[in-house]
Amino acid sequence: MATTGASRDAFGTRAGFILAAAGSAVGLGNMWRFSYQASEGGGAAFVLLYIGMTIILGIPLMLAEFGIGRRGQSAPVGALRRVVGPHSALVGWLGAVGSLLILSYYSVIAGWTVRYALEALFVGFPGDTGAHFGAVSAGGSAAAFHVGFMVATLLIVMAGIKGGIERVSLVLMPALFFIVAGLAVWAVTLDGAGEGYSVYLKPDVGDLMNPSVWRAAAAQAFFSLSLGMGAMMTFASYLDRQANLPQSATIVAYTDFGVAFVAGLVVFPVIFSFGLQGAVGASTVGALFIALPSAFDAMGAIGRVVGTAFFVALVVGALTSAISMLEVVTASFIDEFKVPRRTAATAAAILATLLGLLPALDTDVLGLMDKIAGEFLLVLGALLLAILGGWLVRKQMLEELAAGASPWWAAQVPRILAVLRFVVPPIVAAVLFFSARETVTTVVDFFRG
Ligand code: TRP
Repeated sequence: MATTGASRDAFGTRAGFILAAAGSAVGLGNMWRFSYQASEGGGAAFVLLYIGMTIILGIPLMLAEFGIGRRGQSAPVGALRRVVGPHSALVGWLGAVGSLLILSYYSVIAGWTVRYALEALFVGFPGDTGAHFGAVSAGGSAAAFHVGFMVATLLIVMAGIKGGIERVSLVLMPALFFIVAGLAVWAVTLDGAGEGYSVYLKPDVGDLMNPSVWRAAAAQAFFSLSLGMGAMMTFASYLDRQANLPQSATIVAYTDFGVAFVAGLVVFPVIFSFGLQGAVGASTVGALFIALPSAFDAMGAIGRVVGTAFFVALVVGALTSAISMLEVVTASFIDEFKVPRRTAATAAAILATLLGLLPALDTDVLGLMDKIAGEFLLVLGALLLAILGGWLVRKQMLEELAAGASPWWAAQVPRILAVLRFVVPPIVAAVLFFSARETVTTVVDFFRG
C-alpha cells in the first residue's frame, strides 16, 4: 500500500503545501484567541509585540520544523530520531501527545462554532446570548457537535495528503480569506467603528513595557503558528527537495498574522459600536460566543447574514487546523506502527473524541487543558525544537534549508539560524518559566475547586 513504508504520500503542488500550512496556522487562534488577547493586552501594544514575536520567534521556529521534517521524511517521532538521534524521538512523542490533547478540546470549541453557524443560518441569534452560550457550551449538545466535527476532520485526514488535506485547503483557505476581508470592509460602515479602531491600533506605552503582555504575545504566536507540536514538521515531511522552505515559512507566518490582524478589524469595531467591551473581558470565550452574537442579534437581518459569514469562516479555520493536529498523530501511528492510514487516523480520532468528552461536559476542564497543552507543552516543545534544530543539528539544517531555496532566500538561512540559536532559546525559556508558574497555579486552583 502507498500509505506505509517506501512511497509516502506527498503534496502535489507548492501552493497546496503553503495553503495547508497556512490552514493549520489560521484557525480559532486567529479569530478567537487573538482578539481576546489583544483586548486584554492593551490592544495595539499586544498587536505590535505579537507581530514582533511572529517574525523573531515564529519564522525561525517554523523553519526548524520544516527543515527537520523534510530531512526526516517521517512523522515527528521518526524524523527527530533520524535527523537528531534516538533520544530526541521523545520530543516527537511530546508533539504527538500534545497535538492529541489540543485537538480534543479544540474540537469542542469548533463544535460550538458549527452550532452557531447553523443557528445563524436557520433560526437567527438568540436574544440572551450569555444564557444561550451557557446552555450549549457544555453537555449533550456540545458533545454531539464535538463528535460531528471530529468525524468531518477524520474523513479528510483519511483521504490522505494530496487527495484530502491539500484538496480541501486549496478550496477552503481562499474562501476564508475572502470572507474575512469582506467582513472587515463591512465593519467600516458601523457607527462608532472609529473607537474600536483606535483601541486596536494606538499602542499604550505602559502595556508595551509589561512583561506579562510579552509572555502572552509569545505564547499566542506559537499557538497561532501551530508551532512546538510537530504539526509543521509533519507537513514538511511530505515535501521534496524542490520546495523553498525559508520563503514558505515567511509566507505562512505573514499570512497567519494578516488573517489575525484583519479579524481584529472586524471584531473591535463590532464590539465598540455596540458597547460590549465588558462582555469581552468577562471570559476567554466571551468575545466570540457572547458579545459578537449579541451584536449580530441587535443588527437584525443584516446581522444574520454577517453573523453566518463570520461563523462559517470560523468553522473553516477550525477544520483546516484540526486536520493538521489529527495528521500529526495519524502520521506518527503510520510511521511508528506501520499501520495503514485509515486505521491510524481512526484510532487517533477515537482517542481525541473520547478525551474531548471531558471538556465537552465541563468548560473548566477545557480551560485547564488549554493551559497545560495549549500553553505549557507548546512552549516546552518550541524550546526543545529550537535547541535541537539550532544547536544539535545546525550543519544539517544549514544545508537542508538552503536546498530548493532561490539564491536570495538561501542567503537568509544562516541569518535565520543565528536567530534560532541565540535569540529564540533565551526568550522562549523565559516564557516557559512564566507559563510553568501560571500553569501550576491553574492546576492547583482547579483541584482545590
Ligand atoms: N494554529 C491553530 C490556530 O490558530 C491551532 C493549531 C493547529 C495548533 N495545529 C496546532 C496549535 C498545533 C498548536 C499546535 O487555531
